[in-house]
Amino acid sequence: MTAEGWTKPRIIQGGMGAAVSSWSLARAVSALGELGVVSGTGLDVVVTRRLQDGDVGGHLRRILEGFPAPALARRVLEEHFAPGGRAPRQPYRLVPLHTVPVDLARQRLACVANFAEVALAKEGHPGLVGINFLEKMQVPVLPSLLGAMLAGVDFVLMGAGLPREIPGALDALARGETASLTLHVDGAAPGDDFRITADPREILGGDPPRLRRPRFLGIVASATAASVLATRANGHVDGFVVQGPEAGGHQAPPRGGLRLTPDGQPVYGPRDVVDLDAIRVLGRPFWLAGGRATPERLREALALGASGIQVGTAFAYCRESGLRPDLKHALLEKSRRGEVRVFTDAKASPTGFPFKVALLEGTLSEACFYDARERVCDLGYLRELYKRPEGGIGFRCPAEPVDTYAKKGGDPAETEGRKCLCNALLANVGVGSVRPGGADELPLVTSGDDLAKIARLLRDGEDSYSAEDVIRYLRTSPTPARSSP
Ligand SMILES: Cc1cc2nc3c(=O)[nH]c(=O)nc-3n(C[C@H](O)[C@H](O)[C@H](O)COP(=O)(O)O)c2cc1C
Repeated sequence: MTAEGWTKPRIIQGGMGAAVSSWSLARAVSALGELGVVSGTGLDVVVTRRLQDGDVGGHLRRILEGFPAPALARRVLEEHFAPGGRAPRQPYRLVPLHTVPVDLARQRLACVANFAEVALAKEGHPGLVGINFLEKMQVPVLPSLLGAMLAGVDFVLMGAGLPREIPGALDALARGETASLTLHVDGAAPGDDFRITADPREILGGDPPRLRRPRFLGIVASATAASVLATRANGHVDGFVVQGPEAGGHQAPPRGGLRLTPDGQPVYGPRDVVDLDAIRVLGRPFWLAGGRATPERLREALALGASGIQVGTAFAYCRESGLRPDLKHALLEKSRRGEVRVFTDAKASPTGFPFKVALLEGTLSEACFYDARERVCDLGYLRELYKRPEGGIGFRCPAEPVDTYAKKGGDPAETEGRKCLCNALLANVGVGSVRPGGADELPLVTSGDDLAKIARLLRDGEDSYSAEDVIRYLRTSPTPARSSP
């Protein structure tokens, strides 16, 4: 315990969407006394696809027996579980896209799926488990939080935006009350109040239990963002993960305008170095993320006043992560041979945030595969919301077919180079869509710069490592720096 009265992990295993930080990874990390984090991104679809693949190991069916509203869990199983799995090359059944106003069945699915992932991560040990969301994905988040809280999630972590209303939503859900969230809607006028709500009573179909309010950590790339969250969120922010541009996944754009290198990568400079003095002044615990996965850099973080570090890439390639084994293997081999290249793509993500891509043959990082893919938007998590001319809310994604996007008032220039991360990220974890003609959606792997040195975690003669290997390595005493003569 610390002065603030709660135990702070040294190592947070970063939330990595979609389903790279799966329950099996989070469970392994949490069981070893650090903070394991599952990704909440797209979990509803991931869970329906695991069920359609026959629920290998029976984990979902086992854990859903503990869902507090059994009829809802039964419904999900009836609709999606396929004993023995799909026939080879049979496309997955799609679930309807999230909508506004929200659809109750869709909210229930999100609630059940997030319950399952957290409950599985918490099974069989007393350790702490967190869940990570992207602020940009607003529509599914409230019922997802409810599901995670029903499973006793200990931490909620959220970045890729300023999640100012999430702390208050956690308070409301813990009391069993309706939670609400203001939606970011392009074209909204000053007086517009677009919001979504989640009523636990309605979702669960009965009296909601009182729940423990998880701690909330905001993921930020600047002291300004941390300060806004600390002072202007609608509930308590318990701490921060301070993420630098070396980290995997989405990045904050460089401060002071986007400048690109000749090959199209954003240029980060001194203004992007987070002012840790200003973070410390906020008086909340913080963890440093991005290229921190060595004992030396952990020690340095502690010396800078951090409670520890958040590590992503090193865990993404360990055996327990959800990343497809063939992708792990190929990139570990590249790392061993010193051939890794991680490209910060300013355009790939429909969110408009820079996105780190590991270059790998046979994935959408190759222009020929990107060009050959027929644009389709059938998962829809990264769609932006816009105000329709006749009122009401529409959804569009710059990675959808260009004419569809333009018809919805989107600027066609915005579509250039955009990649369907929803489909690619599901392909990364082995539940990618099969198109009616039988073609597979291709992966697009994100990683931090640390990927270049990831082979340090491989023991001689081995071609894989475990989450425990990562933690043991991080816990070793750093070699003292040689004193200068
Ligand atoms: C494969 C992968 C997926 C990631 N996905 C997310 C995500 O969905 N949400 C998020 O907040 N951070 C995401 N991250 C960032 C990690 O949570 C973590 O902060 C970061 O990887 C730390 O830097 P490192 O990769 O240098 O260790 C992702 C990172 C990786 C490698």
